[in-house]
Amino acid sequence: MSYTEEMLASIAKVEATRQARLSQTFPRMTPDERDEVLRCFHPDYIEEMARPIRLGVNAGDRMPHELADVIEGPAHLDPAVFVPGEPDFICDVLVVGGGGAGASAALLAEENGAHVLLVTKLRFGDANTMMAQGGIQAASQPNDSPAIHYLDVMGGGHFDNAPDLVEALVMDAPEVIAWLEQLGVMFDKRPDGTMSTAHGGGTSRKRMHSARDYTGAEIMRVLRDEVRSRSDRIQVLEFNPVIELLTDGKGNVTGAILLDLETREYRVVQARAVVIATGGSGRLHYQGFATTNHYGATADGLVLAYRVGARLAFLHTMQYHPTGAAYPEQILGQLVTEKVRGIGAQLCNIHGEQFVYPLETRDVESAAIIRECRERGNGIITPTGQPGVWLDSPLIDLIRGPGTIEKALPAMVRQFRRFGIDMTRQPILVYPTLHYQNGGIAIDANCMTGIPGLFVAGEASGGVHGTNRLMGNSLLDVVVFGRRAGHSAAEYALRSGYGELTINHLHDWKAARQQAGLEGGRPAPILLPDYTRHTHPVREEPLIPVTR
Ligand code: FUM
Repeated sequence: MSYTEEMLASIAKVEATRQARLSQTFPRMTPDERDEVLRCFHPDYIEEMARPIRLGVNAGDRMPHELADVIEGPAHLDPAVFVPGEPDFICDVLVVGGGGAGASAALLAEENGAHVLLVTKLRFGDANTMMAQGGIQAASQPNDSPAIHYLDVMGGGHFDNAPDLVEALVMDAPEVIAWLEQLGVMFDKRPDGTMSTAHGGGTSRKRMHSARDYTGAEIMRVLRDEVRSRSDRIQVLEFNPVIELLTDGKGNVTGAILLDLETREYRVVQARAVVIATGGSGRLHYQGFATTNHYGATADGLVLAYRVGARLAFLHTMQYHPTGAAYPEQILGQLVTEKVRGIGAQLCNIHGEQFVYPLETRDVESAAIIRECRERGNGIITPTGQPGVWLDSPLIDLIRGPGTIEKALPAMVRQFRRFGIDMTRQPILVYPTLHYQNGGIAIDANCMTGIPGLFVAGEASGGVHGTNRLMGNSLLDVVVFGRRAGHSAAEYALRSGYGELTINHLHDWKAARQQAGLEGGRPAPILLPDYTRHTHPVREEPLIPVTR
């Protein structure tokens, strides 16, 4: 499927302005301009798309309808009927989730003396980590430092970030890169053997370490191999999501109930400590947005932790990646890494005009694209009605020499070539796509939640990114806080006993639902997205027209 006649006519205009754009730098927005575009066009600022949650420790806090509906849902188990029996598994540390955070937590828990059970909903590695493309940040270069990295993270997050978490993120970062490399991650290098690093949106230094455009897959490959190689002390159980945490009735987490997706049987795990590393919630398709997320990203960890009393933070803010594929329809919403802009590509409208500096922070860049399409009417509309703008990828080879695109972005080139589009010669069509949950379960720098026995790491946690995450700080986050969670959970486990196994907290949950006037509903966690129903009324005229 190549481009339509109308698209080709617009591409000719992009080509006509290319040489002129090469010699100019498009101005960055002023702080006032950024505020204005965010307020008017960023999806987080659409008042009616969020509502206060009605029960639990965050009662009154706003979050998207789709998320509030899931978090307020009934449990799968009825505490009046279900009594956890003898445990099917006993471990020191139960890790819930098989992405980068879960794998890192399992490794550090094991290194700190724990017997670990790692359970996953899908296959081990089916996670957003695997799909991360552009890179991982760390201040590893002579002109950089964790202090400069810290300022970039805080600025990108609008200074809403939890400072102690940001400090942990940037201070651990250089060691994390060394750890990953020592385990076997093959980072891109310069001819002299030093790390090749690039800019991302909102970075003041080149600190993005990459493995071409499949950095997450490379990191996940290595972490998963490492976990598998320690099978004597880390057991992995796939297709067994947690549907409820177990508590001792005194507020301590003591294990979990799994649902075996093959046999539909429940399994009881007794653990001294539990690490939630279940990732984000992109498959809830906030505001009808397409998503970059893997199929299992349905907010499971948030639901589980909230029901035992853990506090949530920053869930009024989601990240829309500026460049999701807008064409062809078959790959709608899939990630087009920020690295494409990081190495020179520019965004152009239907007339071939550049309309935004390519490396504004993601929230600003996305809002500018939405404005260009909605307010200014300068988007390109695909045959299925999806708007988009051009990402002028051929510029990269003009700036950096022929062959750069193929070398730096091999997976992306292949992805578009499957549909007859050669991004080395033609621009690609993009539009913002739901990418990341900026908030999550509140943690401290040791990944503790305030609920004894419950630890959280990665996208399921909230606070480190404030109200906007910078590129490359998610892969960093999963490894930094995965390692910290594993370490903390093992220390806690080895000084704690095993507790009673109950679901008594669900009596309180049921009562709170009743008090809030909530009846029935879809049992949560929902585990898999349901593409046949909507969780809340869909607007007749979506403010941002995007197809699921
Ligand atoms: O654009 C990207 O490659 C995405 C990276 C990230 O979200 O950190």
